Amino acid sequence: MTIENNFTKYAKDYDNNNIIQRIVSKALVREITNKPKNILELGCGTGQIFRELDWEFDNYFAIDFSSKMCELHPKHKNLTIKCFDFDSEAFFYELENKTFDTIISSSALQWSKNLPKLLSLLIPKTKNFKAVLFTSNTFKEIYRITQKPKSILSYDEIKGAFAPYKASFELFNYKLNFESKKELFDYIKNSGVGGDGKLNFKEAKELYKNYTLNYLEFEVVFVTI
Ligand SMILES: C[S@@+](CC[C@H](N)C(=O)[O-])C[C@H]1O[C@@H](n2cnc3c(N)ncnc32)[C@H](O)[C@@H]1O
Repeated sequence: MTIENNFTKYAKDYDNNNIIQRIVSKALVREITNKPKNILELGCGTGQIFRELDWEFDNYFAIDFSSKMCELHPKHKNLTIKCFDFDSEAFFYELENKTFDTIISSSALQWSKNLPKLLSLLIPKTKNFKAVLFTSNTFKEIYRITQKPKSILSYDEIKGAFAPYKASFELFNYKLNFESKKELFDYIKNSGVGGDGKLNFKEAKELYKNYTLNYLEFEVVFVTI
């Protein structure tokens, strides 16, 4: 399943299975102290960031490639939501001649197929860039057991992509505890953070048997330019 389909399939359950995304998006918005009026958000999902804004703005442009997620996003007279893949030429074309007070993104850019290219387009368009990205140390134990290639960027890859800019980084680790294995695995499925979920039935069964932790591991990095 592609990442886009994964989010589209579980869009309606996303808001009940996104504790870490909610924590980090709140923290990200708290860091925006200059009340920007003209904002671009990448990978807006169902509007975690948007719901946290407590100031007036003139123009909020939010994009996401899952139309189902966009449908669940709150509406506002100064908000435009469009269905774009942030790695696509169509999106780059859409941004031509546009600038923003602030560009933000929470829990989305780790899936960029070409983060250096995306940043080279975005950074000249703003003086304030703030993002939080999951790193490939998320679900570390699961990847150790399955030996599957990681579908999201590592901290080093993220740092490498931001190297041409004066970026600062803050790395955080979270553990989310569960009462039962079933709850833990349901959380992975519904949160969308599992990405493209390439496990077949046998592999999934093996993982279920061999996963002995009662928690899930998450690693996120906050990036500010
Ligand atoms: C974990 S959710 C986070 C959503 C929201 N920002 C939040 O904090 O709850 C990741 C979002 O990024 C979107 N996404 C992932 N890759 C994308 C891409 N290449 N282009 C546009 N959106 C993408 C997904 O559809 C999903 O809505």
